[in-house]
Amino acid sequence: MKVTVIGTGYVGLTTGASLAYLNHEVTCVDTDDRKVEQLSQGIMPFYEPGLHELIHMRPDHIRFTSSAWEAVMDADVVFFAVGTPANEDGSPNLTFLFSAVEETIGYLRMKSKPTVLINKSTVPVGTGDQIDRKVKEAGLANRVMVVSNPEFLRQGRALFDTFYPERIVVGGEQAASDVLETLYAAVLNQSFESPLLTGRPDGYSLPDYIRVDRRSAELAKYAANAFLAMKISFINEIANVCDRVGADVRQVAGIIGADPRIGPSFLQAGIGYGGSCFPKDTRALQFIADTNGYDFKLLSAVIEVNQSQKFIMIHKLYEQLGELAGKQIAVLGLSFKPGTDDLREAPSIPLIRTLVAAGAKVRVHDPVAMRKAAALLPDSVHFAGGILEALSQADAALLITEWPEYTSMDIGKLKSVMRRPLVIDGRNALNVSEHDELEYIGIGIGMKGTAG
Ligand code: UGA
Repeated sequence: MKVTVIGTGYVGLTTGASLAYLNHEVTCVDTDDRKVEQLSQGIMPFYEPGLHELIHMRPDHIRFTSSAWEAVMDADVVFFAVGTPANEDGSPNLTFLFSAVEETIGYLRMKSKPTVLINKSTVPVGTGDQIDRKVKEAGLANRVMVVSNPEFLRQGRALFDTFYPERIVVGGEQAASDVLETLYAAVLNQSFESPLLTGRPDGYSLPDYIRVDRRSAELAKYAANAFLAMKISFINEIANVCDRVGADVRQVAGIIGADPRIGPSFLQAGIGYGGSCFPKDTRALQFIADTNGYDFKLLSAVIEVNQSQKFIMIHKLYEQLGELAGKQIAVLGLSFKPGTDDLREAPSIPLIRTLVAAGAKVRVHDPVAMRKAAALLPDSVHFAGGILEALSQADAALLITEWPEYTSMDIGKLKSVMRRPLVIDGRNALNVSEHDELEYIGIGIGMKGTAG
């Protein structure tokens, strides 16, 4: 099929690259000429494992342009995968989406070929209906259909999630979801050779193809993210109780997660969720409920717990060091999670700003996100060339992002360069034993070991 993808962010580029790999003819459109130019030269606008290589596997099936005109005129399907950032009040900003929609509809008036408009951006319930109304007003109802096709991929695992999804959700009329069933046939039947080193996961079963109405598809995207965010805030509150009663949240999570009604995933306690999705989507759902006359109390609590959770590390630091002024603090990890250089809503940024404001001397390290972080952090922050440089002479180290290079760190070396062997692990990710003689504090796991 001839596929046009408008927007080359995580979702758009992953969708375009994977459909090109599956032998569709893909054109990715972006209004940013510089980004288009760089993509045409094979330069990725962000770090996502395997994406660069995937695009190179099918160079004849994917191209990049800033001209939506030619891309739309030729397309069987047009994806909208543009950003929907949050406004001040938490509502999603749909300016980019509607400007792309208006422009596309303008071109569709001059085209006789049937086209399916597919919305992948996360949007308030009813947005698909609004697009559909615009299509009808333009007199295109007989040849243009509108569907919602929410995306559930995770950053850092975007390709894995795209090739091996649990479900593909399509909201819209039957004829349009038939077109998408054909578009995604190779994924639905798993009739492709895996482009990933990991291959198809053991025990993987074919994805469900879920046909629903547009509004349910739109709401399901928010509900899925809000539910996962709720699991995280819940286990973080259990962790805070664990700290007070002397229990270990990892053991508690293991026990409750063994019940299939609860499930083991997203029960990793820590300093809360970040990224471009959970914080934005939980606030957007709260806004949607609110503007429709419903007070979503549980969701408000999920958001509030997450806002305070990151500062638990600072409280723990004060408990150990007293005053922070003049203390040297090493910060390991800046991105909101491993496998990405994304710093949107990353807990590291407000944490480091708080440390600097308290007079601490901060050295930071991250395998991929330091360049992006430089613009967001105070000038006094030192960007270390390596882990040991960050830890050198530190009074304490904060583990913020559980990159494998940190979780597999040689504890002996770490201790040898720090002034005080105090580690506060915001992800409960280090494997530390009493023999390590480290002052080790996690989230909801108590203090393990003492310095020798
Ligand atoms: C999330 C969802 O997992 C995807 O299904 C969804 O498609 C995506 O948002 C989106 O809406 O686009 P993502 O933001 O990439 O994906 O990251 P996750 O891996 O879900 O992690 C989100 C945050 O939760 C991270 O800060 C992570 O550290 C935190 N987390 C996750 C925990 O604190 N504990 C956990 O047990 C799991």
